[in-house]
Amino acid sequence: MAIHIRDAATRDLLRIVEIEQLAFTTPWSLGAFRRELTLPFSRLTVAVSGDDRTAPPNGFLCRWLVADECHVLNVAVHPDHRRFGLGARLLGATISEARQKGADVVTLEVRRSNLAARRLYRKFDFEERRLRRHYYGPGEDAIVMELRL
Ligand SMILES: CC(C)(COP(=O)(O)OP(=O)(O)OC[C@H]1O[C@@H](n2cnc3c(N)ncnc32)[C@H](O)[C@@H]1OP(=O)(O)O)[C@@H](O)C(=O)NCCC(=O)NCCS
Repeated sequence: MAIHIRDAATRDLLRIVEIEQLAFTTPWSLGAFRRELTLPFSRLTVAVSGDDRTAPPNGFLCRWLVADECHVLNVAVHPDHRRFGLGARLLGATISEARQKGADVVTLEVRRSNLAARRLYRKFDFEERRLRRHYYGPGEDAIVMELRL
């Protein structure tokens, strides 16, 4: 099935929050996503399955482009639509944009226990750089990953 990547619009926010709540135990609020749409250095894009680009999204990715760095803050795909390539398309588009805008590096943090996400990032040649112990709470370490462009 075709996958389209496009900028998020206000009308997508409820669906984004739904996906967020299904993906994370401490999800971002609607207000948090709404705020991202107003920040000049923030980019929120969505992945749509099928030919209708205006259809509700099944995945999203939020990142900040600050100075020479693109920092991925949040990415998730609806559980019913995982393993169809949406996460990879969102990340691929983010890396291409970062390169195009002259960034030197793409960075992100991932839970050590999140093997699916770690594999996705490894597929794009991200390297695991440092460990932040208990970053997500007791026993939940974060791995800082980066891709040099
Ligand atoms: C991580 C996530 C965004 C991946 O999205 P997705 O659309 O399912 O990913 P894709 O179908 O594009 O998969 C791309 C690659 O990622 C890896 N991957 C994705 N899901 C995986 C899984 N469950 N187990 C192992 N590897 C996985 C594989 O290498 C896969 O390539 P392959 O299908 O050729 O083997 C999705 O699982 C998700 O939303 N998880 C919950 C939220 C989350 O953890 N976000 C990341 C926070 S850092």
